Amino acid sequence: MCGIVGYIGEENSKDILLNGLEKLEYRGYDSAGIAVLNDAGMNVFKVKGRIAALRDQVDDEVQATMGIGHTRWATHGEPSVDNAHPHQSLSERFTLVHNGVIENYYEIRDEYLKNMDLKSETDTEIVVQLIEQLYEEVHDVQQAFRQALSLLKGSYAIALVDNENSDMIYVAKNKSPLLVGLGDGFNVVASDAMATLKETDRYVEIEDKEIVLVKRDQVQIQKLDGTTVERESYVAEIDAADTEKGTYPHFMLKEIDEQPLVIRKIIQEYQDSDDTIKLDEDIRKAMKKADRIYIIAAGTSYHAGLVGKQFIEKLANIPVEVHIASEFSYNMPLLSEKPLFIYISQSGETADSRSVLVQTKQLGHPALTVTNVPGSTLSREADYTLHLHAGPEIAVASTKAYTAQIAVLAILAVDTARAKGVELAFDPLQELGIVASAMESLTDQKESFEVIAKDMFETTRNAFFIGRGMDYFVVQEAALKLKEISYIQAEGFAGGELKHGTIALIEDGTPVIAISTQDNVNLSIRGNVQEVAARGANACVVSMKGLEKDDDSFVLPQVHELLTPLVSVIPMQLLAYYAALHRDCDVDKPRNLAKSVTVE
Ligand code: G6P
Repeated sequence: MCGIVGYIGEENSKDILLNGLEKLEYRGYDSAGIAVLNDAGMNVFKVKGRIAALRDQVDDEVQATMGIGHTRWATHGEPSVDNAHPHQSLSERFTLVHNGVIENYYEIRDEYLKNMDLKSETDTEIVVQLIEQLYEEVHDVQQAFRQALSLLKGSYAIALVDNENSDMIYVAKNKSPLLVGLGDGFNVVASDAMATLKETDRYVEIEDKEIVLVKRDQVQIQKLDGTTVERESYVAEIDAADTEKGTYPHFMLKEIDEQPLVIRKIIQEYQDSDDTIKLDEDIRKAMKKADRIYIIAAGTSYHAGLVGKQFIEKLANIPVEVHIASEFSYNMPLLSEKPLFIYISQSGETADSRSVLVQTKQLGHPALTVTNVPGSTLSREADYTLHLHAGPEIAVASTKAYTAQIAVLAILAVDTARAKGVELAFDPLQELGIVASAMESLTDQKESFEVIAKDMFETTRNAFFIGRGMDYFVVQEAALKLKEISYIQAEGFAGGELKHGTIALIEDGTPVIAISTQDNVNLSIRGNVQEVAARGANACVVSMKGLEKDDDSFVLPQVHELLTPLVSVIPMQLLAYYAALHRDCDVDKPRNLAKSVTVE
């Protein structure tokens, strides 16, 4: 989703801004721009489309040691040059980039900017025009900035530059992520540390409703009332090399391949010296105390939550409800007496999930965030965090974060069961070791999935995935992966449900992929495959060793029955990848999607 980069120092800022924006491309965007200030004034460059096009447009000769940049994912107004950021005030004195959504922008426009000829359809332009209007009254930039912010409702991360002051970037945030990075003789601003890792690994967090005055050699945090805030910096533990593709053609393929490593890393991080599970004692207590667990998530993380529910219910005997964050937010079910909320989020920034967290915190309920980004908003605002240790996930379609979420939830469930005195024969750390090797054998056989993908998806308009029990959760993720990156209309169904409606869609050649990894439903899912094959479907079965039949398309290595999603999802990820490749789709940056969805 939208991204911000800012730089103030001694170097030529345009290169740093463009490189930073490139690092944010993975989040999804449709237009981009930068503004750099030098003695000749403000230079603004904007394009609809990719950063490569912006690079072509930016004047090679321009030299400026401060500036701001932005990638936009359209919310108010279509993707266009006019709607792209940075936006400028009428006199062009103030230039601003913004992430988030200003909810009261009509009210502000009608009250403060009546009859003004606005240049764009965005909520952002309202902010920069408002700052200029207020400045004309108070003749003090900081005061105008502060007053403007106090009038805004909604979410924002803002970086503002005043043409008449090349020594300062004015920064503020509320609900949308924004960090200040510290350097020697320079400072940076970024909505995601990934954008500025080349410059620095030292960052300062900004809290909601704070303002930061960023100079070359000084960073001053203030509250909206002007009082100064002191805050320690921290070192971002992201290896800059992890954000590069290396020899891979796409981040998605690299991330699929990294899954065995990630599982081994999780084992290492959650294993104590005596081979028991290493987990924060407070999390253990919170899990033990809960009479019901509510898992809140979106997209792929929601699908991981469906699997996590099985672990917690089957192993720790605690009832679990899994909810889509955007639905829960406006339609909260009846809660139990001692609920524990688990927020699953790769990015830790998903606005829908955060909106629920804010509500459940207000109700006084404990919250645990399971995320790949400790220090993210959901992590900071929850009581506890479990880290996924998956390393940066750059491709928009989530792969390694999904398997990491499932692995961490399995460990959490077993730890809770043990804390409650439940005797289990299942050792998750040992079983995950077997899973890692099984994953490796699958990523080593990519060609098989490339062949199946070509056969089934090269020209089709739609596709169905079917499964029962654990496999039903995986087919939902399989369908999401396929539609996200190949734009094939795909759905994941419970095998038995097909004949209650969906089977009407089966025609000659309709692709249907079945997963069968569960002994108790192996025969029934195969019955469902027969039903669709009899109606002309191009059906294939991916089964687990021990349950296979002669004409299955692929047989997965055997792992513990509870952990099969970690293995069966790998062929599904690869099928989606090759389908997108064969259809010439932009695998890592699918149309209309964003990696981190910071608007509700
Ligand atoms: C976006 C991404 C999905 C992701 C979902 C939830 O829609 O495109 O891949 O699953 O957000 O993101 P989260 O960071 O909360 O896991």
